[in-house]
Amino acid sequence: MSDGSGLLLDRSPDAARVSLGLVGGAPADADGDYLRVSDPATDEPVGWVPYGGAAQARAAVDAASAAAGPWRAATPDVRANLLRKLSAAMLDRTDALARVLTREQGKPLAEARGEIAYAASFLDWSAEEGRRVTGEYLEASGANRRIVVMRQPLGVIAAITPWNFPAAMITRKLAPALAVGNTAVLKPAEQAPLTAMAIAALATEVGFPPGVINVITGDADAIGRAWLGDARVRKLSFTGSTEVGRLLVERASTHLTRLSLELGGHAPLLVFDDADLDVAVRATLSAKFRNAGQTCVCPNRVYVHASVHDAFMDRVQAGIDRLVVGYGLDAGVHIGPLIDDAALDKVRVHLDDAREHGAIVRTGGRLGAPRAGLSPRFCTPTLLDAVTASMQVAREETFGPVLAVQTFETEAEAIALANSLPYGLAAYAFTRGLARALRVSEALDFGMVGMNETTVSTAQAAFGGTKLSGWGREGGKWGLEEFLEVKSVTFGV
Ligand code: SIN
Repeated sequence: MSDGSGLLLDRSPDAARVSLGLVGGAPADADGDYLRVSDPATDEPVGWVPYGGAAQARAAVDAASAAAGPWRAATPDVRANLLRKLSAAMLDRTDALARVLTREQGKPLAEARGEIAYAASFLDWSAEEGRRVTGEYLEASGANRRIVVMRQPLGVIAAITPWNFPAAMITRKLAPALAVGNTAVLKPAEQAPLTAMAIAALATEVGFPPGVINVITGDADAIGRAWLGDARVRKLSFTGSTEVGRLLVERASTHLTRLSLELGGHAPLLVFDDADLDVAVRATLSAKFRNAGQTCVCPNRVYVHASVHDAFMDRVQAGIDRLVVGYGLDAGVHIGPLIDDAALDKVRVHLDDAREHGAIVRTGGRLGAPRAGLSPRFCTPTLLDAVTASMQVAREETFGPVLAVQTFETEAEAIALANSLPYGLAAYAFTRGLARALRVSEALDFGMVGMNETTVSTAQAAFGGTKLSGWGREGGKWGLEEFLEVKSVTFGV
């Protein structure tokens, strides 16, 4: 049965393949329906999870609230040890976790392994940084007063994570929150919740106390509503669409719940006439086609200086033509399926619109199964030339393996084009000029800039956006600050 949103709900799942989640250290309550998790490449069922709602959401907060006092009182070292143990356990089980991830999400196994290491890095980083939370001691204006500024955990925090990075987006939120003494309730995405379940099981195995991490699955709307309607939830960290981000902002107004929002991007990538083209081409290919183009930070709009356009296009096309599309568990595959039918439809609409309005398909552009036995949810990596600003592909996030190229003549024009959309997550530029690199870095209105580089996501850096791409930062010391309250205490002496 489908609930109307494309989700497959079952009353009688295959019991051996049900993952229940975790509330208060025990399997989550599972009355009612189960959500079938399907392999997007084959449509085979990979497992089932409970399709919970408000009751499960409340139970998770009850458990997190009960655990909050002791967890806050534990020393940073105790918390750091557990985070490091979880990281080690994830790295030890990389192969098993990566296989689950590939099966439920579709990305090639090598990328899935990379994601497990990336996910573990947030645990290690936060374990260290959580030991460095400090306060301040201030002289007051009155001679008989002193001020101590404390930074304290918020209490219970909620995290709602996306399907495109089913492991890393969990640890990027939970690791800093837990490291500084908060407890957590988490809802992973409906499309890919099994990796989260596996991580929760490992957390129990390495000794996280019951209630510190609670993971439930189910109806996103009901769960989000319940958490933002519960005054005990002091913060919600969300990664997903701008549309859902706006809804959360409205709902957060009830208790003025703090929010971190990592929302949609539409990253521009500028290639100046003085760029090292080999570097630019390599970096463009790896950023654009990672996860089949399904990342918030992948370049969606490539602007190339007219004088290097032909050389850039030839080299990019040669690189694209070497990429292999297929099942993520098959050897040698670079590009897996799109996550679901809606994702495929969006890519189709963007390609049709681009063709209709005069874009040239230099390579790719074919939708459908790459071999017998696979679903039609695949798109060959595509290079579009002669794209114009009014095409859908140049205005909306495609979230697929489509590289859309436009040209520019001057630096001012390139910056204006890059800043022309209401999104501000990541932007990239390629130039050998130091002065230009500084000028362009300053002028790009984005939370992250990759200069001669497209790898901007690491545990140490601040990840996040401006404008419609959201609020707050994840990663580095900034990621921990998001989960701390500043308290000022004035002493009379
Ligand atoms: C995202 O797509 O939201 C995350 C990508 C990353 O961490 O690099």
